[in-house]
Amino acid sequence: MDILNLLPPQRFRAVDDLLAFISIYDDKKRTRAYYKLLRAHKKHIYNSVCVEGGCGLDLFSVELARLGAKKVYAVEQNTLLAKLAQERINRLPAKIRNRIEIVNKPLQQFQPKESVDVLVHEFYGQLLYDEDLWVLERLRFKPRLVLPDGGKLWAGVVSSDFYKDRVVTQAVIRQLDGVLVSGLFQERFNELKAPVLQWKYGRGLRNLKHNFGKQNGDLLALGLRVTHAGKTVCEAGQCPNWSYVWTHRKGNEISLLFRKSSGMMDARFKWKG
Ligand SMILES: C[S@@+](CC[C@H](N)C(=O)[O-])C[C@H]1O[C@@H](n2cnc3c(N)ncnc32)[C@H](O)[C@@H]1O
Repeated sequence: MDILNLLPPQRFRAVDDLLAFISIYDDKKRTRAYYKLLRAHKKHIYNSVCVEGGCGLDLFSVELARLGAKKVYAVEQNTLLAKLAQERINRLPAKIRNRIEIVNKPLQQFQPKESVDVLVHEFYGQLLYDEDLWVLERLRFKPRLVLPDGGKLWAGVVSSDFYKDRVVTQAVIRQLDGVLVSGLFQERFNELKAPVLQWKYGRGLRNLKHNFGKQNGDLLALGLRVTHAGKTVCEAGQCPNWSYVWTHRKGNEISLLFRKSSGMMDARFKWKG
């Protein structure tokens, strides 16, 4: 979905984000994986103070209340999404509605009066850290439990012979030097061989060195795995919200760095070696 007419920049950003984020609800597998994760932690949630960071349409805030949280702060920085979340909550029975409070502000500016037991978030980008995981390193409160608490970006080298088609030919692939493209090809799920990035709540982001020298192929595939306590919650391709990211293979090691500029987390990619 693209906005085609000229709008004031702030309005454009708000609607553009709204359209980008509501598309996650097409991914039923992601939603189910999160419900399963929350239900697996219902003992921690029952009678607790919970925060959903970036609540979107607040599905998971409602689930936290249903699982018996005594208070849920549904924090959302996008005003349009916060309004939609509030409208949805207003239609719920009072015993659920009264325990959820929508807070329309950036999570990093939010400071509840109570201590927080559980924080739920879905801040993962296709390259793991290219969306909003950084926010969890700038919190003004210290949750006892963060769901999910980790993630990895896996990588592997494959031959374009098995992926090229009439349109995306090897000649096209060669033009993608240094360019990371999501969704270029359909995943086959045997591409990813080693993790190259790891994020863990409280420890931050770490680059993991991997040398692809022993793998043949002219295509690099990268794929996200969302983890909790080391176990996979959902992964790129299986949960269509995230697809694999592809580029032309030009070396044996990669450098992937993230830098925040004007509110966005930019990924900087190059081949080494
Ligand atoms: C991928 S969506 C997830 C929505 C919801 N948690 C879910 O999983 O269904 C990320 C949401 O976080 C919001 N968001 C991103 N950064 C934020 C921040 N710093 N503070 C509050 N909300 C944020 C976005 O506007 C978006 O609604």
